[in-house]
Amino acid sequence: MARYLITGGCGFIGGHLAHALVREGHRVTVLDDLSSGQEDNLPPGADLERGCVTDGARLSVIARQCDGLVHLAAIASVEAAAANPDRAEAVNLGGTRNAVAAARTHGIPLVYASSAAVYGDAGSDPVAETAKCAPLSAYGEHKLKSESAVLTLGPRATIIRPFNVYGPRQHPASPYSGVIARFVSACLAGETITINGEGHQSRDFIYVGDIVRLFLAAMSRDPEAALTVNGCTGQAISILELTRAIAAACGAGLRLRHGPARPGDILHSRGDPQHALDTLGFQAEVRLGDGLTETVAWLRGEDQ
Ligand SMILES: NC(=O)c1ccc[n+]([C@@H]2O[C@H](COP(=O)([O-])OP(=O)(O)OC[C@H]3O[C@@H](n4cnc5c(N)ncnc54)[C@H](O)[C@@H]3O)[C@@H](O)[C@H]2O)c1
Repeated sequence: MARYLITGGCGFIGGHLAHALVREGHRVTVLDDLSSGQEDNLPPGADLERGCVTDGARLSVIARQCDGLVHLAAIASVEAAAANPDRAEAVNLGGTRNAVAAARTHGIPLVYASSAAVYGDAGSDPVAETAKCAPLSAYGEHKLKSESAVLTLGPRATIIRPFNVYGPRQHPASPYSGVIARFVSACLAGETITINGEGHQSRDFIYVGDIVRLFLAAMSRDPEAALTVNGCTGQAISILELTRAIAAACGAGLRLRHGPARPGDILHSRGDPQHALDTLGFQAEVRLGDGLTETVAWLRGEDQ
C-alpha cells in the first residue's frame, strides 16, 4: 500500500483516479481548491486538503507524507485559461513548478497531466510524441513549459498528454467540460446541438476509465528514464458523426444547427497510441459507443 498525492483530485479525471487507487488498497490525499471540482467526486477514505497549488510550501508539506504525486490541478480549458491569463499562468505553470519542487525535495515520482494542446496543429496524422510542439493557445503553452519543468526531475518524471477525455462525472454545465458532456446533456433535454462550422473536424475521444488505467500504469512503472506518452485511442471521429452516435446512445432524435467555425480550430486531431503501448503496455479498450452509453446513464442519474 502506498500513499499518493493527487492535485486536482476532486475534478473529473482526478476523482476517477482517486476511486481507482482506493479500490487498489492505496491511501489518497487530494489537494484541491474546488474551483471546478467537487468534494463528492472523492471516494470515502480519501483525505481532502482544500488549498491552491500556487502555495508551494503547503504542497510540499503535504507531499512529504506521500510516495508519489499526480499533478492534475489546472484551469483545464483553453477558453477558461484565455479568459484569465495571469491566473492561468500562476496555476497552470506556477502550480506545476511547485509540484516539481515538492517531488524533487521529497525524492518521489511525479506523473503530470499535460495535454494534446501542446502539439497545436501538428500537421501529422496520427500525432506521435516526437511531433513538433507548437501550441496555439496560452493553455497549450503553459502545458508545454510545464513539461520542461517536469522533465528536470529526470527518470522520475512521467508526462501524459491526454487527447479528449469523456465519461461519467464530467459536468455539462461547466465551462471546463468537453463537447461530449455538453452534447449528451443537450440531446437528453431535447435541445438543439450547435456544431461549430460544418462538423467535419475530427477528434480522438478517450474514455475516462481508460485514461485512469494509463495514469495507474505510469504511476507503477520502473523509473528508468523520463517518459512522455499520449493518452489517446488512435481513432478519430468527426463531430458530425459524434452527434449521430450520441443521439443513438440517448435513444433520441437529433436536432442540429451549425454555428460559425471557431477561428483556429484544428481540423483533425488523432493521437498515435504506439509509444504508450510499447512503454507501458497501455491500450485504450472502451469503444466510443460503450463509453457514450455509460456517459448517458450517468447524466440520466442512473449510475454514479
Ligand atoms: N478532460 C480532458 O479532456 C483533458 C484533456 C487534456 C488534458 N487534461 C488535463 O487533465 C487535468 C485534469 O482535467 P479534468 O478534465 O479532470 O479537469 P477538472 O476541471 O475536472 O479538474 C481540475 C481540478 O483541479 C482543481 N483546481 C483547479 N485549479 C486549482 C488550484 N489552483 N489549486 C488546486 N486545485 C485546483 C479543480 O477544482 C478541479 O478539481 C488538467 O490538468 C487538464 O488540463 C484534461
